[in-house]
Amino acid sequence: MFVDTVSEGPPMRKTAAILFALVLVVAACGGDGDGGDAAAPTGAGQGGDAANGETLYLNTCSACHGADALGVQGLGKQLAGSSFVADTSEADLYTLIVNGRASDHPDNDTGVAMPPKGGNPSLSEESIADIIAYLKSLQ
Ligand code: HEC
Repeated sequence: MFVDTVSEGPPMRKTAAILFALVLVVAACGGDGDGGDAAAPTGAGQGGDAANGETLYLNTCSACHGADALGVQGLGKQLAGSSFVADTSEADLYTLIVNGRASDHPDNDTGVAMPPKGGNPSLSEESIADIIAYLKSLQ
């Protein structure tokens, strides 16, 4: 009897397939995946240690933004003496650094992409706060 039910199967299998597809879609949309900007946790990017941030900056960001943070033509923009960095809140800088800025992002004016976390996925929330403290100290 159980076997009969299964052998009548196509509608059941179809339902199962649709449910499975839905689960995949929900899984892909949930969490802090690559789609859309991840919201910054409260207090993110604040109270960092600028000295530690300088080391992290030199390791992760300087390849594109320059060791002196004055930018590198065709790679990354100037971050020292930058009205953008000076005028943007730590929380908004945090969100930008975590998400990067794709080449087709409306705010992108160089046509070059800024990778999420500067391409270093191991940067922690605290490390990014340290980098922000360092960048703020250069204004
Ligand atoms: C692979 C190169 C690359 C790396 C590595 C990189 N960036 Fe960027 N970054 C860019 C580019 C390109 C832009 C400019 C995009 C645009 O045109 O808006 C940018 C923009 C920015 C901006 C916005 C500046 C502005 O005036 O709009 C900030 C802030 C920034 N990066 C911080 C960082 C930090 C902090 C790191 C290290 C954690 C980092 N970047 C690593 C390429 C990079």
